[in-house]
Amino acid sequence: MTIDFDALTPEYIRDLTPYQPGKPVEELERELGITGAIKIASNENPMGPAPRAVAAAERALAGAHYYPDAGTYTLRRALAEERGVDPDELVLGGGSNELIYLLVNTFCQPGRDEVLTHKYAFLSYRLAAKSLGVDLVETDVTDSFRCDIDALIAAMSPRTKIIFLANPNNPTGAHVTRQELERVLAAKPAHALLVVDEAYHEYAAPRDPEYPSSQDYRTADQPLVVTLRTFSKIYGLSGLRVGYGVADRRIVERINRVRRPFNVNSVAQAAALAAIEDREHIARSQEAAEHSISAIREAADSLGLTAYSSLANFVMVDVGRDAWDVYDALLRRGVIVRPLEPFGLSRHLRISVGTPADTDRVTTALASVLG
Ligand SMILES: Cc1ncc(COP(=O)(O)O)c(C=O)c1O
Repeated sequence: MTIDFDALTPEYIRDLTPYQPGKPVEELERELGITGAIKIASNENPMGPAPRAVAAAERALAGAHYYPDAGTYTLRRALAEERGVDPDELVLGGGSNELIYLLVNTFCQPGRDEVLTHKYAFLSYRLAAKSLGVDLVETDVTDSFRCDIDALIAAMSPRTKIIFLANPNNPTGAHVTRQELERVLAAKPAHALLVVDEAYHEYAAPRDPEYPSSQDYRTADQPLVVTLRTFSKIYGLSGLRVGYGVADRRIVERINRVRRPFNVNSVAQAAALAAIEDREHIARSQEAAEHSISAIREAADSLGLTAYSSLANFVMVDVGRDAWDVYDALLRRGVIVRPLEPFGLSRHLRISVGTPADTDRVTTALASVLG
């Protein structure tokens, strides 16, 4: 029997291409027959997980024969205290990625509603909208890849249901200032959700007093502001998949109707709970990231390349030529970074922060490839 798999697949799924993750270190080492390759391509924390989180995860494993707490009771309580909100204003996800999909799934009706964001925004907004058959509107950015607030406001319409802003954005590193966020809020259609994805908040906040926390903008008059955070970045728990949203309890209640049961596993819940308290690990990670960012920027400057400013744990660099060639040359030196051609940026690489040794490796490799 011949089956037409395209006919089997809805049209809006047919057009999608699978997400391309960064190349794993083991794969590169196998291909080149080398050891000691480094990967600074996925905006992870090179300092590793919070040590307290590792100990808590190990303890939680002994209870792996039980289903996790589907309501994430203890973790929500701890986060509520930390964030100064009610536990009912929190929803946990398998990474903040799951929450992006859940928001579109819960609030957008295909054929009727639109998701609005800007070009070169975090890819999941596009993937979530497209995979759920929801129309996506992407507005232009400025010359320095910052969200063009005028263009974003001009694109708002009665069809706009969710506006996604990553602050700071991945892969560009650009951020939205307090004043810009206030302009977006003032212009937002009353029934549209503004979702501010603050995956890199803990890196950004200490570096710039003008960097806003979107949670401060959710009020009784402006209830449709949703803040997304994650344990994947500064907390060093990418592999465990846990993120959360802070939102009006009526938004949380709707998301919970769609959220699959047990979406955050018990080991991840235990690790996240312990990680919140590991302030020392967070402070060390912030400091290490700042050093690494400065060193990468300096190296790029000295090679005459454009390194874009970033409040996150990565830097976008315009290498002035086909970035795949530079990427390949770096790979041959055992250094994995992220080419941004799949994001539509053919001359750009994204370089994540690393340990001091990683940062030395990448700056030396860049100089030998481009110097
Ligand atoms: C802007 C932004 N949002 C969300 C995420 C998703 O993180 P996670 O699903 O691991 O919480 C990332 C990860 O790279 C990101 O860069």
